[in-house]
Amino acid sequence: MADIFPYYAGFAFDWACKQLHVQSNGDPTKVVLDPWNGSGTTTLAAQVDGHPSFGIDRNPVANLVAQLRCQVRVTGKVLLPPRRSRVSGRMAARDALSNWFSLTSVTRIRDWVRALQDESLDTKIVGLVSIFRVVRSVTERFEGSNPTWVKRAKSDDELLNISPDVLDDAILAEQEGLWERLMSAPRGVGRTSIVTASSDRLPIAEDSVDIILTSPPYLTRIDYGVAYCRELAVLGIDVLNSRDLRAGLMGTTLIRGDTANQLKPGKIACDLLHRVSSHSSKASSGYYLKQTMQYLRDLSAGFDEMTRVVKPGGTLCMVVQDSYYKDEPVPLADICIDEAGARGWNLVLREQFPVKRTLTTLNKSAREYKKSQVSESVITFSLRSA
Ligand SMILES: C[S@@+](CC[C@H](N)C(=O)[O-])C[C@H]1O[C@@H](n2cnc3c(N)ncnc32)[C@H](O)[C@@H]1O
Repeated sequence: MADIFPYYAGFAFDWACKQLHVQSNGDPTKVVLDPWNGSGTTTLAAQVDGHPSFGIDRNPVANLVAQLRCQVRVTGKVLLPPRRSRVSGRMAARDALSNWFSLTSVTRIRDWVRALQDESLDTKIVGLVSIFRVVRSVTERFEGSNPTWVKRAKSDDELLNISPDVLDDAILAEQEGLWERLMSAPRGVGRTSIVTASSDRLPIAEDSVDIILTSPPYLTRIDYGVAYCRELAVLGIDVLNSRDLRAGLMGTTLIRGDTANQLKPGKIACDLLHRVSSHSSKASSGYYLKQTMQYLRDLSAGFDEMTRVVKPGGTLCMVVQDSYYKDEPVPLADICIDEAGARGWNLVLREQFPVKRTLTTLNKSAREYKKSQVSESVITFSLRSA
């Protein structure tokens, strides 16, 4: 099920299962959390290993995919094509889907989304993920060389005019395909809660979690709002024309403007800020400094929250990737080790792996700067008892 939806996973399902089994010593009562749960690899692994778990993500698209993988009961119910509504030019033009689709196609996709509202949660989740998959596949041409940066149609001529019949067939086929996949997908007995919330305000009581297994957004300019703008449009959220949701996601390229006075960076983060602000390239001391500060503020708020909810003696295992700002290294693993240490976490293990293909190798202007190999680290900590 991991490939059911293209999510930037950070780690694989089998690896997550092994990690949880080791960290919990095989004790299924241990409570698991992923505060950046994405498509739900951690929560699915926890469920299969028998643990109760919380999966938090600010992006509702991620949570629907995680719910599909972890919570949907296999009923096999396929929603048949709903009644066709008349195209209302004014309504369809205001719809977020009109960034890519003609009024006729927008109206038909909206018919499906509306019809799903009256269905059971299981049918609704399978139906919505089916629509995500269809929309993503037919709009592929709007992805650039960087697949996380999606463009909208520049003119009416570029809009996709896909007939209602073709859309109906595709959505039906996707629903059938998803149910088939779900029938043979792994499932366990652990209770799973998937919640749309932010890592800087976890809706979880203090001292209630034993193990965190997670991979936060990296400082690589993946804007999760833009990367999932087409699926968010299906849910009625237009991230390309408004700041809704997108501004609150960690790693966003939008600037919120409230971060400078909230940030108390550690030594390694301070050094990175200094190197970014004194870089000779355009906007380094302006926009890019602000974006880096905002990211670091979100990361440290995440650490505050993870420290609050974990029991003394609990463990934190993070997968993080270093990157580059122009030619300046961004040592994210070292920054995390620094942040964790300042909050009472002991580093237990650090493993490093070379990364062959990163987003900056896809970006032509970023390739102009000299860089050495980037690495991905698995860093494991345990929380000191008070
Ligand atoms: C590297 S992905 C995690 C992927 C996950 N391990 C999986 O298996 O799919 C990072 C996730 O952080 C989420 N995220 C970004 N900002 C957030 C925030 N403020 N609070 C919670 N989640 C956030 C993104 O939506 C994205 O799903």
